[in-house]
This record gives sequence, structure tokens and C-alpha cells, in this order.
Amino acid sequence: MKKTFISAIDEIKEIDDSTSLNNFKSKYLGKNSILYFYFRKLTTLNISERVQCSTILNNFKKKINNKINNKKIKLKDNKLINQRNQYFVDYTLPGRKIERGSLHPITMIIEEIKEIFSYLGFETYYGPELESVYYNFDALNIPYNHPARNISDTFWFNSKYVLRTQTSGMQIRILEKNPGPIKAIIPGKVYRRDYDQTHTPMFHQIEGLIVDTSVSFANLKWILENFIVQILKKNTKIRFRSSYFPFTCPSAEMDIQDKYGNWLEILGCGMVHPNVLQNCNINCNIYSACAFGIGVERIAMLKYSVSDIRRFFENDIRFLKQFV
Ligand code: DAH
Repeated sequence: MKKTFISAIDEIKEIDDSTSLNNFKSKYLGKNSILYFYFRKLTTLNISERVQCSTILNNFKKKINNKINNKKIKLKDNKLINQRNQYFVDYTLPGRKIERGSLHPITMIIEEIKEIFSYLGFETYYGPELESVYYNFDALNIPYNHPARNISDTFWFNSKYVLRTQTSGMQIRILEKNPGPIKAIIPGKVYRRDYDQTHTPMFHQIEGLIVDTSVSFANLKWILENFIVQILKKNTKIRFRSSYFPFTCPSAEMDIQDKYGNWLEILGCGMVHPNVLQNCNINCNIYSACAFGIGVERIAMLKYSVSDIRRFFENDIRFLKQFV
């Protein structure tokens, strides 16, 4: 038994997992162990031999059991240490770099435009993107059969509401509430069924509205020219082209020449049509009004020399990072 005990002690020293420990237990204390073999043999011995041998066997059993229990505790401790090591935080390691977010280039341009106009006393207003047909078309003097209302140009929500195709509807909402002198700009998203190098189904406009007792087209022209010089911060070639919008008369569009000599249309403008003023109960004998609608993406394209408007909305971090 002594030999068996010595080899058991050697064996248990090497064990470092619970399966091997279970195997060890059944090898030395199980039903098929030498221990049990001797236990069974005890009946063949006389009383005094039986007492002596059973003391030896019980001693063996007790010692091996102790060893097994100690090993169990040790294995449990090792498991805990391993677990702890797995989540170990090394505070001396250098920190991971946190990427800094930034505003979208279009948001930055809108903020810049708001600031330029705020110096001239313009207040900023916002309106709904889901707009009623009345504000988006009817009140703006846009006839029932105008192509802009066409299903192929406009996102119709139902027969009474559209995703606004222009911020101009806000002219009406503002005029309804403020009959007196006013200088307002309205930035916002607008939607049209268009998709190519210079059009996306969603884009941004900044509507402008000035109402006062003697507003003239010359005032409008000065404000817009001054705005372009400030936002593009360089000498740019500008041209006004006469145009047509149902809600302004006379109407014009402003083009800017890009670095390749191409003219890019960036805004529409004009004197607010008397029908529109009347729709809002503004007395045309006292007040006159002018308005404009700036294409924000167009300004951004010129300012940053971006030739394809779609780049702004593809969420390509490499493109957006350039504006940080
Ligand atoms: N709403 C027009 C458009 O989306 C732009 C525009 C033209 C706005 C003339 C105006 C304006 O305020 O007076 O094309």
C-alpha cells in the first residue's frame, strides 16, 4: 500500500484540470481500485489482522481524499486567477485613439450662411418637411396644371400633402403671422424626384424673405451679390438671368462661373407676386417684398470644387474628412 501511496502522491502533483482529478479519484478510491480490492479481502483475515489492515486502508483513503480536496481548492483558485487575467487591464498601455466627429459640410455651410444673413438683421425660421399642397403650391400662385406638381417631379404623400419641393411655402407661413416689416431666412431640406451629377432627391435650400415699405429689386440684387462675395470669399463671376417663377414678378436666377468657366445656377429670386401677398392679407399699397431661394449644395460645390453633388450624401468618411 505504501508503494501505491507514493505513486499516487507523484501522480496528483502533475494534475492541473478537474477531469484528470476525477480520473485520479476513481483510479485510487473507486470500485475497481486496489484499495477496494484489499477492502474486499479483509473478510478473509482473522480479527486482529483485519483491525490492523483496515486501519492502514482507512488511513490511505483519508490521506488520498485530503490530497484530492486540496487539489480541488487549488484548481478553483487557478481558474479564478485565469479569469482575472483574461480581464486584466494594463493601465500603463497607451490609450486607444478616439476618432473625432464633425459637422457635415452642408450643415457647416448652412451655419455660415445663417451668420452672414444675421449681420444684415435676418432672423432664422424653420418649417415642416411634410407640407400641405396649399403652402407648397396653391398659396404660391402655382397653377393647378404646373409641371412642378407632376407626380414625376414631386413626392406625393397623399392628395393633400407632399414632401416639400421648395422652402418657398414658408414665405406664406411667415407672412400669415407677421404682416409688418420682416427679414427672414428659412434653411431646410427639400425633396424632388431627381438624381444625377447636379441633383439628389433630397437637398437643401435657404429661403429668404424681405418685407418692408420700399423694398426694391436693387436691394435684392445688392444683398445677393454681397452674400456671394462673403460666402465664396473670392472674386467670382456672377450673372443674373431673367426667369419665371409663379410667386415672383419680376423673377431672376443667379449663376456663378466655376473654375472651368461653366455657369452653375445657384438661386432663384424676385419681387414677391401681388397675388401671394394678397393670399396672406398683406396690403400691397403699403408693403413690397422680395424673396430668394438658395441651393445650398450648389454653393458647397463651388466653394469646395466638388463636381458631383451625390458625394455629399454617400457617407464616404474619406470625402467627409476633408471638411473637418
Ligand atoms: N423655390 C424656387 C425653387 O425651388 C426658388 C425660388 C425662386 C425661391 C424665386 C424664391 C424666389 O424665393 O423668389 O426653384
